Amino acid sequence: AWTASNIADALIEQVREQVGDGHAICGLSGGVDSAVAAALVQRAIGDRLTCVFVDHGLMRAGERTQVEQDFVAATGARLITVDAADTFIGELAGVTDPETKRKIIGREFIRSFEGAVSDVLGENASHGATVDFLVQGTLYPDVVESGGGTGTANIKSHHNVGGLPEDLQFKLVEPLRLLFKDEVRAVGRELGLPEEIVGRQPFPGPGLGIRIIGEVTRDRLEILRHADSIAREELTSAGLDGTIWQCPVVLLADVRSVGVQGDGRTYGHPIVLRPVSSEDAMTADWTRLPYETLERISTRITNEVADVNRVVLDVTSKPPGTIEWE
Ligand code: XMP
Repeated sequence: AWTASNIADALIEQVREQVGDGHAICGLSGGVDSAVAAALVQRAIGDRLTCVFVDHGLMRAGERTQVEQDFVAATGARLITVDAADTFIGELAGVTDPETKRKIIGREFIRSFEGAVSDVLGENASHGATVDFLVQGTLYPDVVESGGGTGTANIKSHHNVGGLPEDLQFKLVEPLRLLFKDEVRAVGRELGLPEEIVGRQPFPGPGLGIRIIGEVTRDRLEILRHADSIAREELTSAGLDGTIWQCPVVLLADVRSVGVQGDGRTYGHPIVLRPVSSEDAMTADWTRLPYETLERISTRITNEVADVNRVVLDVTSKPPGTIEWE
């Protein structure tokens, strides 16, 4: 029978068999999937798992602390943080094509994991230990939409599937590969992860890098991070977090429009709100948010975020839109 407890036990057993007495690292993104994957693998192989949080500079406000504090508090897992913002943002310079961005980000994640191996092993390295396994929180929909399923279209390369380099030196451990998000959440609860982690809304591994339409720069990241934190704050205080699946906030960095503030002309960027309702992210509907909430978000963003003079609402379902813009 499908119970979260049976599934968790079976997956833990499967990981034990695959990893044997080897060492593994798990990339944590701050999201539900990688947290649940890490907790499963920790049950299976204990402290031969080290979690690695790559700070790629594309996170939202407050996210790094959340991973460093909440996750470690909940699991007691070993965690190493890699500061890779300069590298990621450097590699993304001049890049505007969505798939190219995704591939660069996927590749740089792996390079960061490789670079962390000697720190992970510490003195075990001198006893000949190696890290052979990389744990990822890949879900069934990630596989399907990256063209990894049978007979499905290649829609976009999720960073942990289609974005992997060909010369990958790790064997992948992907215990959630056949599960949907709600099942992953159930397994996470079964493993005792707190609601702040399992209930979190999805956020893509490539982060704000795929929510800036156009080139990713530090200034643009700053603008988007600010707008995003306002939108999240207002959605939370309106009590809407449980109603929406997620709400990407997107910066149209190459678009400007004319506005007016005080008695002056402005020429700023639009921010797009993309609130969606969904069961599994394979299809989605745009969420009918209350006008009052939309108004508060719009007023605050245009008042508080420099260089943004317009807020627009995305009212497209998936299909034909995808949830993220890139
Ligand atoms: P799309 O944009 O394909 O998104 O409709 C479906 C769901 O997947 C998330 N997403 C990603 N998650 N790595 C991830 O971990 C990725 O590369 C990625 N791309 C999209 C998206 O936020 C939505 O929940």
